[in-house]
Amino acid sequence: MSIGKSKFTWNNLPADDNTVTINFEGESRKVPAGVTVAAALLGHDDDHICQSAAEGDKRSPYCLMGVCFECLVEIDGLLNRQACLEPVYEGMHVKRQHALVDEIK
Ligand code: FES
Repeated sequence: MSIGKSKFTWNNLPADDNTVTINFEGESRKVPAGVTVAAALLGHDDDHICQSAAEGDKRSPYCLMGVCFECLVEIDGLLNRQACLEPVYEGMHVKRQHALVDEIK
C-alpha cells in the first residue's frame, strides 16, 4: 500500500522559540516544541520510521496512542521507544528501528 504525501508539512517552520531541532537518520529536522516524535516525523513526510520484526516491512505510526507498536524507533541509543508517546526535545537523535529478521534467519 502506498501512502500519499500530506499537504501539511513542517519543512518551512519559522525559526523561533517554539521549535526544537532533532536529528533523524543524520538529518536535522526543525519541529514544533512539545509534539511527539511520531508527529514530528509525519510532519516531515518520512516514508517510514521502522520495520516489522516479522516480515521486515516498512512501518509508519498508525494509532498514535501507544497501542499498535508500529512506531518503534531508537532514541539516543535506546531501542523500542514508541515514537507516538515520546515528546521531542532539543538535540534528540532518532533512528529508524530496523527489524531483526536478517539476524535471526
Ligand atoms: S503509533 Fe501505535 S503505538 Fe505508536
